[in-house]
Amino acid sequence: MCGIVAYIGSREATPIILDGLQRLEYRGYDSAGVATIDQGEIHVRRDVGKLINLRLKVQADPLTGKIGIGHTRWATHGAPAERNAHPHVSMDGEFVVVHNGIVENYLELKHELMAEGIEFKSDTDTEVIVQLIERFAHNGAQGNLTEATRKAVHLMRGAHAIVVMNRNKPDELVTARVGNAGGVAIGLGEHENFIASDIPAILEHTRRMIFLESRQIATVTAQGFHIQTLDGNPIKSEIHTIPWDPVSAAKGEFKHFMQKEIFDQARSLTDTIRGRVDFERGEALLPDLNLTAEQAKALNRLVTVACGTSYYSGLVGKFYIEHLARLNVEVDYGSEYRYRDPILDDRTAVLAITQSGETVDTLAAMEEAREKKATLWSIVNTIGSQAMRISDGYITMNAGPEIGVASTKAFTASIVDQYLLALALAQLRETLTLGQRRQYTHDLSRIPDLVGRALETEPVIKELATALHHYTDFLYLGRGINYPIALEGALKLKEISYIHAEGYPAGEMKHGPIALIDEEMPVLCLALKDNLYEKMISQIEQAKARGGIVVAVATEGDTVIQSKADHVIYVPECPYLLSPVVAVIPLQLLAYHIAQRRGADVDQPRNLAKSVTVE
Ligand code: AGP
Repeated sequence: MCGIVAYIGSREATPIILDGLQRLEYRGYDSAGVATIDQGEIHVRRDVGKLINLRLKVQADPLTGKIGIGHTRWATHGAPAERNAHPHVSMDGEFVVVHNGIVENYLELKHELMAEGIEFKSDTDTEVIVQLIERFAHNGAQGNLTEATRKAVHLMRGAHAIVVMNRNKPDELVTARVGNAGGVAIGLGEHENFIASDIPAILEHTRRMIFLESRQIATVTAQGFHIQTLDGNPIKSEIHTIPWDPVSAAKGEFKHFMQKEIFDQARSLTDTIRGRVDFERGEALLPDLNLTAEQAKALNRLVTVACGTSYYSGLVGKFYIEHLARLNVEVDYGSEYRYRDPILDDRTAVLAITQSGETVDTLAAMEEAREKKATLWSIVNTIGSQAMRISDGYITMNAGPEIGVASTKAFTASIVDQYLLALALAQLRETLTLGQRRQYTHDLSRIPDLVGRALETEPVIKELATALHHYTDFLYLGRGINYPIALEGALKLKEISYIHAEGYPAGEMKHGPIALIDEEMPVLCLALKDNLYEKMISQIEQAKARGGIVVAVATEGDTVIQSKADHVIYVPECPYLLSPVVAVIPLQLLAYHIAQRRGADVDQPRNLAKSVTVE
């Protein structure tokens, strides 16, 4: 979950690394550090807390060098203290490492190294790596950094991504990846090269990237790179050209990335749909899914695996695929899936939904599916990510980089992707008529405009945030296709404002949570004009009868609701199946403005990280 950036070339490394880390700070912000090599010495600056502390330290005490590595930390082993911040230097000061992942057997290795007289300066598992590298460089690898790193990695259990430097070899960086602790992208420049855990860190310098697979190690110089497996077999890797532009990874006129990303949705959803629909024939065009009519007809089940917001997106997608393609869908948490010995076969498709494409729990569920011979699909935002690479077919979200830790535009994009998937399956399985397909594709074409209109609720929501921000418990209720939106709305509020919020299927309220409702509890009800409207009204009556403060998200023109709820947020009338995409917009805005009112750190909420690469 940590962020890594490294540079080698003819420019000063530190500013490039610090700017890169700034773009990765969402990955972890317990501490940050940078190391360079200059005049045969390793120079390190580290500090606890956010990157700004490190920047100030570097300003006061600059460090030079044309090769360097940097890190933002999300603490696993060892408290967020300076001594535990990366980069970590070996005992004799020859080697320095940054690391993402967990060395599961670090205690065993540490004791072994200590018995050999090696002294440790931190409480981290990472320090073991650099001490092992130094030990092998002196004994067995004859000073060869790649060889010493390979030997060290062979001894380490767990999943890792590392970058190492040797003060005696200021012309090479070595990076290795094992398992799914996070990606390693090698960015290719002109007489300079870059390494990063995440694309946005180095996007302003190059769009040409190579991604290390698990159990690969690369030696990177200013002029080139050499990749091999950990067993020493050379690898020829594909060079990907990343379509994102650096500007889309910047905040622009917005105060926070989250706010920018919420407002980006009318645009991002246009990109999600663009070029993928033949409106005349009512068809979804998804060539990267590699799906044939024969396969589509042979399927008897689809299992969606995902975590957090992506999981809630999967709950919405279930409605689409079952309703349009008449295919049975189960949705499971990536973190739970492999622990229940799931039944899978070649008639099952497993669909992973993941913005980052590197959530370790989702990747583990995908591996389970792969082993059990299911067809493996993914919906991903990060081009070239592990999830995309290991899938038989994929659909990209095309949402552009999502930096805010709280996911917003990836949520709506992944819902629309599932709508497209359902249409593609429906046409191949022949479950819809041409007229129906045309209607559904026409509905989809309205989405960017409807989302744009839902964003106009912001002034009302700002006022609401002023009225509600001091409450400590919220209940979110939804029914049918908008039940997952209640879950997502509550998650957004929890994540960024630290208010306790529960999402619940509205009909279940009377089976327990109703006991919580009193005049201190705002109850947010998704009460759009659909087939469940009457039932939602009766839930609202029940909440009101217990003194709850009811906030309704309702359809424009519904005047009845004003007499039932304390506050009403109107969204435009929209097609039932696509209503979650519209209804979630005010909930994202509400969470954002409540968090703002409470002075919370919206883009970097405490304890969280954007890509969750530990189990
Ligand atoms: C969303 O706001 C969260 N920060 C989190 O739940 C996230 O959706 C989850 O970790 C899954 O991430 P992924 O989509 O990158 O796999």
